[in-house]
Amino acid sequence: MLNDNQFARVSDFDAMEAELKQTRHYLHAHPELSLEEAETARFVAEKLEGWGYTVTRNVGGHGVVALLKNGKGTKSIGIRADMDALPIEEATGLPYASKMPGKMHACGHDGHTTVLLGAAEYLARTRHFDGTVVLIFQPAEENGRPSGAQKMIAEGLFERFPMDAIFGLHNHPGAPEGTILYRAGPIMASSDTVNITIKGKGGHASRPHLTIDPVVVACNLVVALQTIVSRNVDPTQTAVVTVGTIHAGEAVNVIPEYANLALSVRSFEPKVRALLEQRIVKLAQAIADGYDATIDIHYDHGYPVVVNSEVETDFARTVAEELIGPDKVSLCPLIPGSEDFAYYLEHKPGSFLRLGNGVSSAILHSPNYDFADGSLTVGAAMWARLTERFLQEQ
Ligand code: NI
Repeated sequence: MLNDNQFARVSDFDAMEAELKQTRHYLHAHPELSLEEAETARFVAEKLEGWGYTVTRNVGGHGVVALLKNGKGTKSIGIRADMDALPIEEATGLPYASKMPGKMHACGHDGHTTVLLGAAEYLARTRHFDGTVVLIFQPAEENGRPSGAQKMIAEGLFERFPMDAIFGLHNHPGAPEGTILYRAGPIMASSDTVNITIKGKGGHASRPHLTIDPVVVACNLVVALQTIVSRNVDPTQTAVVTVGTIHAGEAVNVIPEYANLALSVRSFEPKVRALLEQRIVKLAQAIADGYDATIDIHYDHGYPVVVNSEVETDFARTVAEELIGPDKVSLCPLIPGSEDFAYYLEHKPGSFLRLGNGVSSAILHSPNYDFADGSLTVGAAMWARLTERFLQEQ
């Protein structure tokens, strides 16, 4: 049985800090885009094998899953890091800036991977845990449909590598380095795109009675869509329905055959998300029908809402407070961005945390962004302690 002073502390990682920075800078200099993470996966897999993990490669593309069992405990914990980079030309001028033209770790996945590797090395060396650790190095978070998470799940992630709960983190520009943010329930938005084509009947502008004008249908629809948030969504909830593009017609004396609309739809509750879809489809069909036009709706579901479970989030918050003190752990605001970690949480309880990236950090996906090395040891210690504490409770 472990006693409290055996659980990982941030100071246990001080001696590893130089190595963590070196790993992070190497990954930063060698970014690979979504679906192309072969070298990153190889780098990660070889390190894990060297530390004694049982490593499975090519799970859902270039995904790597590493298992380590210790003691007789029957519990298991999953922790995920994402590995892919973005098609951005880096402008940081850092000594370890990207060596790959037009590719950059502009979302800090180099840091997420490094932090999990740091915990992996520590856990393998110290073995102060009783049960099974499942480490998930995921490809294609940025640009996938199916995304890396979807593909890993489809290839049997949870059946082949059973886990009782799953945790992940993302760095958080604007929060001080070395801090941790948590939020139970919804934390990041769903993001859907809808393309609507209205087919009318084209003709001469002087003879509208012989046509079905799709411009009139489109204009009615745009106005009707704006009633969804104001009249259908619960006022205590938030949602966005934006008509971002509207295209129809080429000539002033012609009533066109088609009109096209593209919508961006966001929400923070699965229920609200479903309501938005139902109302958009119903209004579009009804309005087109009312004008004898026909309609084609392509509803493209992006990543779902990231919904953290209560128990696991509360547990992670407790561990974070033990590790760095309550003053460095805070409630995370709702984040309008989206994340494919949402798919894991549709299958398993768990929690997606945020790790402070500094108050003066450039924003994510900026060519000037860089992951904060000052958060490496806290991130690694958090995963190590979370593992030890999670598996302790039998
Ligand atoms: Ni990201």
